[in-house]
Amino acid sequence: MKDRPRICVNIDHVATIRQARRTDVPDPVTAAALCELGGADGIVVHLREDRRHILDRDLRLLRKTVKTQLNLEMGATDEMVGIALDVRPDWSTLVPEKREELTTEGGLDVAGNRERIASVVKRLREGGIRTSLFIEATPAQIESAAQVGTDAVELHTGRYAETYRKDRGIQELEFLRQGRDLALEKGLIFNAGHGLTYRNVRPIVHLGGIHELNIGHDIIARAVLVGLERAVQEMVQVCVESWQCNMIPHLGPVG
Ligand code: PXP
Repeated sequence: MKDRPRICVNIDHVATIRQARRTDVPDPVTAAALCELGGADGIVVHLREDRRHILDRDLRLLRKTVKTQLNLEMGATDEMVGIALDVRPDWSTLVPEKREELTTEGGLDVAGNRERIASVVKRLREGGIRTSLFIEATPAQIESAAQVGTDAVELHTGRYAETYRKDRGIQELEFLRQGRDLALEKGLIFNAGHGLTYRNVRPIVHLGGIHELNIGHDIIARAVLVGLERAVQEMVQVCVESWQCNMIPHLGPVG
């Protein structure tokens, strides 16, 4: 693939700040517009069952105002499928959801829930919504994802991000590379995300073949200090520079 990955910004944390006081600021709808001004290629929100951050109202307004593309992260439940078919985001990404977790932990177990996931994917796709499955980069999950008829997979970069701090995530990067190869071989669009930062995103960009990176926490954390538009611009810049540079400092020349 010749193009750099598209950068899609997850704005859940903007809603988390609002919900800390149950007021109406900061508004994720305004945040989405600023992300787009900063060069985001898409906006991602996770409408959780417990509505702990993003609310139904946000989703409906975002559908009307987002100019790039709207990706709805959701559990594979009937309630969420109904909302998605009503609101019609450009993409739905199916994620596992546990009430007690701070953020999405682990990938969706597609291999263990093939029938259920296949039926949700079918309903969404019949409604004109493209689907992505957030999964671990294992052959079993990727092959199952291809079997259930999804358009894309988002490979979980959480473990890579954790190990990056210790040893630059070299082993996990290799798993992601193998996952990318299998996903592309199966005809799936390859996205990646979770735990990516201004620092650890560089080797991920170098993997190549990535359609989209979904990044939330590190961009919003920087935005608190430098402003959202600038924080997004800086992430886009890091990705463009990494894409153009033909050396990865710690891994040697790009093959
Ligand atoms: N992709 C998915 C499927 C997610 O659930 C999340 C977190 O909401 C992200 C990407 C973004 O992760 P982070 O906030 O760590 O950048």
